[in-house]
Amino acid sequence: MQVALKIWRYDSSTGQRALKEYEIDAPEEATLLDCLDIVKDKRDGSLSYRKSCRMMICGSCGMRMDGAAVLACKTGMYDIAQAGKVPVISAMGNLPIIKDLVVDMASFWEKMRSVEPWLQPGYDAATEKENIVSAAKMAVIHKESLCINCGCCTSECNSLESDPDFTGPAALAKAMRFVGDPRDGNTVERLEKHSGEHGIWDCTRCYFCQERCPKGVDPRDAIAKLGAEAMKHGIDRDMGAKHAKWFVTSARTTGWLRETELVPKTQGIRMAIKETKFALNLARHGKVPPPFPPHVAKNQKEARQLYKLVKEQGVSGAAGIVQGEKALGRIEFVKEAAHQAKHEGAAK
Ligand code: SF4
Ligand code: SF4
Ligand code: FES
Repeated sequence: MQVALKIWRYDSSTGQRALKEYEIDAPEEATLLDCLDIVKDKRDGSLSYRKSCRMMICGSCGMRMDGAAVLACKTGMYDIAQAGKVPVISAMGNLPIIKDLVVDMASFWEKMRSVEPWLQPGYDAATEKENIVSAAKMAVIHKESLCINCGCCTSECNSLESDPDFTGPAALAKAMRFVGDPRDGNTVERLEKHSGEHGIWDCTRCYFCQERCPKGVDPRDAIAKLGAEAMKHGIDRDMGAKHAKWFVTSARTTGWLRETELVPKTQGIRMAIKETKFALNLARHGKVPPPFPPHVAKNQKEARQLYKLVKEQGVSGAAGIVQGEKALGRIEFVKEAAHQAKHEGAAK
């Protein structure tokens, strides 16, 4: 098949940047990485990119295709070529480019190291021949264990773009890998550390990391699990944690978000006074409801019922954040219970 690619070429030693187009003949089963190999072999030997395993496990070949991070060796080119598209290939985002598609991963590794990605056992010796952990307990961190350190999530992270010191989705997913490990003895210390500046509460919840991760790690879910674990352990001094708590209180009491009280409840009275002019402006333009009488949803009982139901299930921390099929099952269950509650209410 005929494949056309546009590749952003860059040389950090000269600062020269150019978008170059290449057309090649490639086998139908060729991946993006195979196509880059052909370009390098047959068109321009100076093209630079990273690769190793060619089978989606070493994490070396992260790059962007049409502005979104991909693993080159996982990206088949057949459909793209058949559709006559000419994708633009560029280096990953949020990391400095060294040459062409090769980025400097130093800050990525530094953040990985900062979460102490090794087990710190809460025991001196194994209780038996070895410490056996049940499959069910390890399932909590199954997804986080799949990470291949490719950096695709980091490339697309909005928070990192505005704050380069943000710990980032890959390192935080790794942090959850150890916070959720029942053998680890440093849970509270780890959670304290990740609840500070540039930590879990600085994530904007844009979900781009989740969308671009080629291994299904779901880093945003991992961050949510860390947040839930932090709250479970009473580590809730960060504004983000207070914010999340207020959402729950709002939903439980009125079925809506009580926006007018959000600032005093999360940022304190002093900040609320400072923001009075801004709040009045919002109110004048109908952007926030008046605080009194409280804005109560028509089906507020349902919200309260959902809260009660989750509480009765006794799930807290990461266990309250379920994924995949299990999540769908839980949602269906909750929906059914809410439906039932509604009908019971109507019958009274
Ligand atoms: S969800 Fe959070 S960690 Fe993931 S990309 Fe968005 S800001 Fe970054
Ligand atoms: S979380 Fe996914 S995208 Fe991020 S480094 Fe790990 S495997 Fe790559
Ligand atoms: S070359 Fe190893 S993941 Fe692509």
